[in-house]
Amino acid sequence: MEIIVAKDYAEMSRKAADVIAACLKENPATRLGLATGSTPEGLYACLVKDYQAGLLDFSQASSFNLDEYRGLAHDHDQSYHYFMKKNLFDAVNIDPANTAVPDGANPDAQAACDEYEAAIEAAGGVDIQLLGMGHNGHIGFNEPADEFPKQTHCVDLTESTISANSRLFDSAEEVPRQAYTMGIGTIMKAKKILVVANGTAKAAIVRDAFTGAVTPSVPASILQFHPDVTVVLDADAASLLA
Ligand code: F6R
Repeated sequence: MEIIVAKDYAEMSRKAADVIAACLKENPATRLGLATGSTPEGLYACLVKDYQAGLLDFSQASSFNLDEYRGLAHDHDQSYHYFMKKNLFDAVNIDPANTAVPDGANPDAQAACDEYEAAIEAAGGVDIQLLGMGHNGHIGFNEPADEFPKQTHCVDLTESTISANSRLFDSAEEVPRQAYTMGIGTIMKAKKILVVANGTAKAAIVRDAFTGAVTPSVPASILQFHPDVTVVLDADAASLLA
């Protein structure tokens, strides 16, 4: 595991974007694994800037997002479909047909999740998976649990996640209670993993996940067992690392 500490959010975003840009330059048909949330917004802005400057080409790239709320229409402004269009897909030359986000609008959870897992497999897997981390160590929507979920599945969101995400909705009541998410097994199959975290509120979980015991009660800790992980932190998120 390589841990890179940037001085602030802007530098974290640039350095993390450079990791993805390097993959795309080496292999224009890179299969990207993408994340939503506040943390990667700056990274996506860097990728869009690179594209606009003619430094990056997404025409052969494809993508699979980590997760989506269950029950939100694709055009709901808090859906992850919408987030990705706004932050990346509409701003670069990726073919929309080559972008995939779990289908939160499909009420049949089993079918939606099985189809998504099969689509990742059929594509040949993810080359580089971008991850943010929840305050409780969740990756995707894999919440602390007694075991590591293997495949794309439907989860009940924890109160901690509902309350963290309620800042984006009009009220906590409006936050969906379930989501479809890649499993930990799905994430661990990616060839390369890139984690981003910023801010003092993430410092304790960064320390626990990357220097503590590997346990499903801290889902991100499993990344210690992945052979190719790059973690890019700002100084605040890195502040409790020895
Ligand atoms: C988003 C996702 C989540 C977030 C995590 C951190 O697709 O899978 O695991 O990465 O909740 O969110 P932010 O970046 O908003 O702190």
